[in-house]
Amino acid sequence: MKLVVAGSTGFVGTEVIRQAVSHPSVNTIVALARRPTPAPENAGPGADVSKIKSVVCEDFENYPESVKKEIAGADACIWLIAITPGKLKTMPFEQTRKICLDYTAKGLEAMAATSNKPFRFIYTSGAKAERDQSKKPWILGDYSLMRGQVESHVLNYAKQSAGAVQACITRPGIISAPGRMGIGMTVLSTIGRSIIGLPKVEVSEIATTMIEQAVNGIEKETLLNEDLVRIGQKTLAEQGKSS
Ligand SMILES: NC(=O)c1ccc[n+]([C@@H]2O[C@H](COP(=O)([O-])OP(=O)(O)OC[C@H]3O[C@@H](n4cnc5c(N)ncnc54)[C@H](OP(=O)(O)O)[C@@H]3O)[C@@H](O)[C@H]2O)c1
Repeated sequence: MKLVVAGSTGFVGTEVIRQAVSHPSVNTIVALARRPTPAPENAGPGADVSKIKSVVCEDFENYPESVKKEIAGADACIWLIAITPGKLKTMPFEQTRKICLDYTAKGLEAMAATSNKPFRFIYTSGAKAERDQSKKPWILGDYSLMRGQVESHVLNYAKQSAGAVQACITRPGIISAPGRMGIGMTVLSTIGRSIIGLPKVEVSEIATTMIEQAVNGIEKETLLNEDLVRIGQKTLAEQGKSS
């Protein structure tokens, strides 16, 4: 299958690419990002890094023909482009909305136009995203509502596609990478978990789960943190690996 990983240069994207190069059902990986995607480190035995096609996109609102050609005929996409809460202060909120909402909507539309059917779109959201726009959460209110809007858009797009697009929303809490996180990330993770009450999933577990859903089909429309841990741990155990 041909898998697009959008946001392949990020924290989760790097792990998805690392695992996908060893997946026997994934033949082509389009690593889509605003800068080149490096070859994964520690890919392990059986990895085939020649499956990776690094594709740099300079305009995520209006895909150039050269990018459209690379994403054509995709079977699935794992979408990871977003501004995380820790980076919210680096830009105006309207910019964050454009990157999180508009880029996702345009990316889904561009890929679905030339994809194989059914096309599986795995969207990475967050545990506190709120789809009900009348319920503003007490913390990160506008951000959580906006991420909920993205979820609703993706799900509605799939519903209106009459089966051509199948969507899955993943809702991780804190994503951890034991032994690979710096002190800053560890502190943020601890604060997030204790004050906001966020559950935790390991990056290897969520990456495995998303690849599994893309390759073998979507278990359910929305995968909560506990589902990501459950599916990830089960699949890793079946592969003879641990998280
Ligand atoms: N990390 C967590 O603990 C956590 C928890 C819950 C949910 N999530 C969600 O999981 C998803 C992935 O998170 P992550 O931790 O992997 O985030 P990340 O490391 O910040 O990666 C985000 C990706 O989006 C790209 N990106 C950011 N701004 C962009 C722009 N203006 N134009 C094009 N691409 C842009 C980044 O490119 P560059 O590499 O070039 O910056 C990167 O490829 C997000 O939806 C996030 O909200 C993460």
